[in-house]
Amino acid sequence: NTQKLWGGRFTGETDPLMHLYNASLPYDYKMYKADLEGTKVYTSGLQKLGLLTEDELKKIHSGLEEIKKEWDEDKFVRHPNDEDIHTANERRLGEIIGRNIAGKVHTGRSRNDQCVTDLRIYCRDLLNDKLFPDLQALVDVMIKRGKEEIDVLMPGYTHLQRAQPIRWSHWLSSYATYFTEDFKRLRQIMDRINQSPLGAGALAGHPYGIDREFLAAGLGFDGVIGNSLVAVSDRDFIVELMFWGTLFMNHISRFAEDLIIYSTAEFGFIKLNDAYSTGSSLMPQKKNADSLELLRGKSGRVFGDLAGFLMSLKGIPSTYDKDMQEDKEALFDCLVTVEHSILIATGVISTLFVQKENMENALTMDMLATDLADYLVRKGVPFRETHHISGECVALAENLKLSGIDKLTLEQYQKIDSRFGPDLFETFNFEQSVERRDATGGTAKSAVLKQFENLASQIHTI
Ligand code: ARG
Repeated sequence: NTQKLWGGRFTGETDPLMHLYNASLPYDYKMYKADLEGTKVYTSGLQKLGLLTEDELKKIHSGLEEIKKEWDEDKFVRHPNDEDIHTANERRLGEIIGRNIAGKVHTGRSRNDQCVTDLRIYCRDLLNDKLFPDLQALVDVMIKRGKEEIDVLMPGYTHLQRAQPIRWSHWLSSYATYFTEDFKRLRQIMDRINQSPLGAGALAGHPYGIDREFLAAGLGFDGVIGNSLVAVSDRDFIVELMFWGTLFMNHISRFAEDLIIYSTAEFGFIKLNDAYSTGSSLMPQKKNADSLELLRGKSGRVFGDLAGFLMSLKGIPSTYDKDMQEDKEALFDCLVTVEHSILIATGVISTLFVQKENMENALTMDMLATDLADYLVRKGVPFRETHHISGECVALAENLKLSGIDKLTLEQYQKIDSRFGPDLFETFNFEQSVERRDATGGTAKSAVLKQFENLASQIHTI
């Protein structure tokens, strides 16, 4: 313990399991770049205060560069006493430039402001470098497919019962809409992630009057967290991110569930590409939709990350307590799972085969019963009445064991209601049914194309 960075007041050794239990380096090493950047800007702040000479600052910065190279090239050698990424980097800096100078970098700083500064930078960069572009690519693929396959019709479902014909592209557009909203929601969270805690010290503030705005600007933050107690202990941005991930995975899960159903032999609407399916060790004929099942299954895991960390957070007294170290494993798991899920969903959707004939063969005439009711509405009959009349037609066709309501004769129709004319048979056309729904958001070709246009412009507005 006497060798540890905080070892001065200790005489006894740490229990070996306690050391492992306490150490976060096995996962927080991921933030090495943010940690080194943070120290770089922080020491510039110290130099402005006269706490470091120009020459010392230069040596520190070149030492930090060297450490970054070691991490980048996977050559950083971890020391058994390293507790976390912050102590590991500081220990290494001392070895490279000498402890006399390295011993000054932590002046006025605490790991309490340091660790959460790193985490905010890490999240911001991951969003910018990965999640935003990945989400854009997912929505782009859905739009591209939707435009190419705009003519394909399929049954739309409520209660998983055939309801009304829609375009396959309309289904694609529905999930592209969820994912675009997810994208926008994530952008809004960014405003709260990208605030600087650095310079708040352990909890009470900085004793040498460091310029926190300078630190924030140097690290690309949009602002400074206005209370030092909050700066070190606020983890709301992590909760929000994991809630975001949970909601996103909920959308992914429902998207996957639809496709799982559509890929069964009973439906046969789509076929997964081999790249995203696996076989059975026993049954030679099997091709399973594992990619989709994992997209669905992993949504539970991400919710677990959120729920677990919220539980850890709820009883913590103000400011930093070690419970907060639990933020990282949950968050990293959530972010990796979400990122991979976006990539897998993108792969699935860009490579699956659409079985147009099966989709269209699944359309049945009773799905046009609403259109039949609308036919009489156009003749001036109140909808509540036409709904009833159309229902009687469906019942009659069923009783006569006809294949659909289009097989009833004009006489049979007129016996139910004299306002039916020979033009009623024009109702029995799926394409026209779909095309009638051309109001904003509907399934007509023009309306779906308009949706894609809107989504494309929203997903590319940063
Ligand atoms: N590894 C710690 C964390 O991630 C760093 C902060 C430690 N601070 C402290 N006072 N022990 O939360």
